[in-house]
Formats: sequence, structure tokens, C-alpha cells
Amino acid sequence: MNVLLAGGAGYIGSHTCVELLNAGHDVIVADNFSNSCPEAIKRVEEITGKKVPLYEADVCKKDAVDKIFAENKIDAVIHFAGLKAVGESCEKPVMYYRNNIDSTLTLLEAMKKYGVNNFIFSSSATVYGTPKTVPLVETMPTGSPTNPYGWTKLMMEQILTDTAKANPEMSVVLLRYFNPIGAHESGRIGEDPNGIPNNLMPYITQVAAGRLPQLGVFGDDYPTHDGTGVRDYIHVVDLAKGHVKAIEYSANHKGTEVFNLGTGTGYSVLDIVKAFIKVNKIDIPYVIKPRRAGDIAECYADASKAEKILGWKAEKSLEDMCYDSWNWQSHNVNGYK
Ligand code: NAD
Ligand code: WQD
Repeated sequence: MNVLLAGGAGYIGSHTCVELLNAGHDVIVADNFSNSCPEAIKRVEEITGKKVPLYEADVCKKDAVDKIFAENKIDAVIHFAGLKAVGESCEKPVMYYRNNIDSTLTLLEAMKKYGVNNFIFSSSATVYGTPKTVPLVETMPTGSPTNPYGWTKLMMEQILTDTAKANPEMSVVLLRYFNPIGAHESGRIGEDPNGIPNNLMPYITQVAAGRLPQLGVFGDDYPTHDGTGVRDYIHVVDLAKGHVKAIEYSANHKGTEVFNLGTGTGYSVLDIVKAFIKVNKIDIPYVIKPRRAGDIAECYADASKAEKILGWKAEKSLEDMCYDSWNWQSHNVNGYK
């Protein structure tokens, strides 16, 4: 299939490019580089030995998106193009609603105009809000995300569901990611956050690289096995392979379907720190800090639906995630810069 990856130069998008190309699909990338750079796509080409058509484009802009659809035969769209920093979304909610929702609407309008019916969406476990029980199952109610970023995801799930309802030819696949970490085994592409990282693994790798002095562990009094927060960390390459399965599934599917993409296993902050130290033989100094506002104790997936219907299951271990995260960061101390 010919797949347009909106936001395809980013962390998950670049890894998905590699897996789609390896699986024999063709990709076109559109990105405004607000949180990425063209170098990531150069490296995708280097890893795969294939050319990737790349458009520098804001996918909120009608003309820019129209040009891409006019110049390419597109079978499916994967929409990664979003702003994703939870804290920033609380400070700049309008910017988040504008970018994340406009990009979705503009892509949907172009798809309608050009008769493209397959849409894969980067959603998030954040749409479940504060879980009453774990593991999280797709049939559990969504609602009440704790921040504007989460609300944009929930609203976009609704927009896409309504659009598929109105167009019986359409296939919408909502992928609810849990916590992606790790990097491609080549160490050539990986996560390259702007400024001081908010997320755990990039923070750890920057401590390991000497860019930050120590890790702050946000709370050790949660009702978890060691008191620190538990999450479902998933290797980004496994996650990328989930998109290949979703694209192939959508070719023979109509309507809206939602899948959790996680491993089904929860690890605590200290599990991650200890595994990172053991696998990479580097000390990670840390200090216990107060809980971070908005954090929940535990969040992990029931990932059985994706296995049953998509034939997809995460395969990589926590050790692989720690090894590959450090392999990327240690070979690219300042990311792509
Ligand atoms: P990322 O920031 O690395 O990638 C997003 C890409 O979209 C970037 O390259 C950015 O430049 C681009 N972009 C943003 N707005 C755009 C616009 N208007 N036009 C064109 N390009 C635009 O983030 P990621 O971690 O790869 O996440 C990809 C998607 O997955 C996002 O939608 C994010 O919300 C979602 N998601 C991420 C996580 C996570 O923990 N990384 C978890 C759940 C969901
Ligand atoms: C993981 C654990 C922290 C940093 C966020 C978004 C979510 C999704 C993924 C997009 C928690 C602890 C973290 C640090 C720490 N993104 N931690 N010290 O919060 O589960 O999810 O990213 O959709 O929507 O909310 O991920 O990596 O920030 O935190 O102790 O410096 O690590 O408290 O327990 P989170 P995270």
C-alpha cells in the first residue's frame, strides 16, 4: 500500500517508516518539523536503502495537504502529527486544540476529496483517564483525561468515529499507545526531545550521557510493589510493527476499531532504573521527589485484542528497551543535532 505518514519524521513515525518499508509498503512523509528534523528521514533511507518522498508541510494547512494528495496515489493515512507534551498542553491549550484537531480535520477533508478511506490514528492510553482497574481493556469507558492533550486525543477519536459512521466505505483504526521507549537496533533513529525531557526514559538516557545530573523519581508512596508509578513500556519497534498490522487490517475492514498497543506488563520507575543500570552497566543517580501532579499509580494494557484480531504481539523485552534506548543516546549524545 502507499501510506501517507503525517508527522512521519517524529519518534514513532520514523520507526514506523522503517517497518512499513521493510514490509514492502511505500511511504510518503509530511512533517512541519516542529518536533523533528529531516535528518531522521535521511537515516530511515540509510537503514532501509529506500527513498522516502518527504514534504515539509503543516498538515493543518489545506493547500499543503491538497498538494500531497494531488501528487501521490495514497491508499491510507497514518496520523502521527500532533503536539504531545502534557504539561505544555495545560499552559497552551488553544495551541494544542488548534494543531491536533485542525490537522485531523484537514486530513479527513483531503481524504474525502481524493477518495482515500483508510485512516490509522495515534491515540493514547491517556483517553482512559484515571483507571478504576487495570489492565485497561478497549471496552472500558473513556473520558475525563487529566489534561488538554488527552482531551484532544479523545475528541479526535470521536471525530473519526463519527466520520466513519457517515461514510460506510471508511476504515478507522484507533491505536491507543501505552509508553513507547527504545529505539531502532541500528542506533541511527530514536527519541530526540526538545529541551529537558518530561518522559522517564529520555530523562534516564540523558542522565547516563551526563547531560543531566540525576533523575528525580516522582513519588515512592503509590500503592504499587515498590511505591513508584507503574506503566506499560513498549519498545517503539514493536509499536511500529503494530502499525504495519493495522494498515494491512484496514485494507479489508470498514467502520471504527480500537486497539491497545502495549505489552500487558507493568513496570515501576525503579524497575526501569534498575534494569537500565544492569543492562548498560552505567549508574543512574536518582533522588525521590514528590508525586508529579496528574500522575496515576498504575496503567497497563490488556493487549489481547490486538493479538487476536491484528495478529500482533509485542516481542521485545525490558532489557531490549533499555539497551536500545542507550545505544541510540550514547551514539547520538545530542540527538540529531
Ligand atoms: P513526535 O513529536 O516525535 O512526532 C510527532 C511529529 O508530528 C513530529 O515530527 C512533529 O514535527 C510533527 N507535527 C506536529 N504537528 C504537525 C503539523 N501540524 N503538521 C505536520 N507535522 C506536525 O511524537 P511521537 O512520540 O512520535 O508521537 C507520535 C504521535 O503519537 C503523536 O500524535 C502523539 O500524541 C502520539 N502518542 C505518543 C506517545 C508517546 O509517548 N510518545 C504516546 C501516545 C500517543
Ligand atoms: C512514566 C513514569 C512518572 C519522569 C506520558 C503521557 C501519556 C503518553 C506517554 C502521549 C511515571 C515517572 C517520569 C521523571 C519520574 N503520551 N517519572 N521521573 O506520564 O506515563 O505518560 O507519556 O500520549 O499521555 O502522560 O509517562 O514517561 O512521563 O512517566 O519518576 O523524570 O515515570 O511519574 O510514573 P506517563 P512518563
